[in-house]
Amino acid sequence: MLGTGLVGMAMLGTGSLGIDTLAPALPLTQSALAATGVPVGAAVMIEDFRLDPRLREALLRYCDVLVPMNDLKWEALRHDRDGFDYSGADEVIAFARRHGKGLRGHTLVWNDGLPAWARAIVSRAEAEREFNRHIETVVSRFKGIIPVWDVVNEVIAHEPTPGRPLRDSIWLRHLGPGYIETAFRLAAAADPKARLVINDYDLENPDARTAQRRREIIAIIRQLKDKGIPIHGVGLQAHLYAERAVDVDGLQRFIAELLRMDMTVTITELDVIDWRLPADPATRDAAVAKLVSTFLNAVLAVCSPAGIVTWGLTDKSSWISETFKRPDGLPARPLPLDAAYRPKPFMNLLQNARRGRA
Ligand code: G3I
Repeated sequence: MLGTGLVGMAMLGTGSLGIDTLAPALPLTQSALAATGVPVGAAVMIEDFRLDPRLREALLRYCDVLVPMNDLKWEALRHDRDGFDYSGADEVIAFARRHGKGLRGHTLVWNDGLPAWARAIVSRAEAEREFNRHIETVVSRFKGIIPVWDVVNEVIAHEPTPGRPLRDSIWLRHLGPGYIETAFRLAAAADPKARLVINDYDLENPDARTAQRRREIIAIIRQLKDKGIPIHGVGLQAHLYAERAVDVDGLQRFIAELLRMDMTVTITELDVIDWRLPADPATRDAAVAKLVSTFLNAVLAVCSPAGIVTWGLTDKSSWISETFKRPDGLPARPLPLDAAYRPKPFMNLLQNARRGRA
């Protein structure tokens, strides 16, 4: 827990976390920051990485950590059942290592990002064979290279209920809820030094569904720890909706509980879904920065995240543009750099967090 490590605007001086006085005033330059810098990074889409030298330059300039956005998923690694294609992942990883950048592995187990042959798995035996083989093969391949893995991604039901806490997936259907424990156990066996993370979305807002999703994350961690199965951290994807409030109190209580369970916290896929914001770019960029500032202030007030990773780096390429199309047809502005690679207020916040004190 951070105590005096936080800095805020001159007007503070009360030693309080002062979150509410930080976020709304001048969120662009003044946010609550950890006393020491937080590693900042971005997910890298291989198509853009190969084609755009400006992206490579920006990754070197603004990032400490790189995450292959899709190239460590089943869909990229295992076009067919037998072979493993590491070409995309190896390109990003080699670039990161050549330039002294950190790495995150995303993701060993997910219901999406699967090749057709995997989606067509019909038996428990086949699911178990391919599931176990995948984790053992991939984690072993990158042992000592990738220090942290999103072992499971989005395993909590979108709207969890007491009888159905987990998201439907081929893994749940064929292997039962124990697939989560198995994933962590196999990953730990393949690379005992790797830090193992459970990664999920919709953990930041003040509604009952989100609160239940947070409780389900805590329950899974407790189950794994009670069985002595290694788990080290939680990834908050943090795909923030511009029209939704940040549940500062709920988020801080959640993080405090995670810290009490010796979990690290990583912001793993930060971006802002701006489809409900006005058209004007400057207005949108300011609103996005204010929301990100509120969110970062809330998190940084109670922990020093293991990292802050955005899901892409430039508005030129974001999943949000396709998934959350604006009614006015304008391109989304969800990321720290605009489509011309110009830094936006969002980037100021990240670089402040990266440097530590403002
Ligand atoms: O690379 C192929 C290309 O060769 C092919 O021509 C093209 C058309 O089929 O597909 C390309 O691969 C696509 C890939 O994005 C790269 O563009 C995949 O089909 C497509 O499924 C993939 O979508 C990714 C999605 O996860 C599913 O894996 C998105 O880029 C990526 O941003 C998104 O990221 C997820 C996180 O992993 C988990 N959290 C949510 C987040 C957003 O959905």
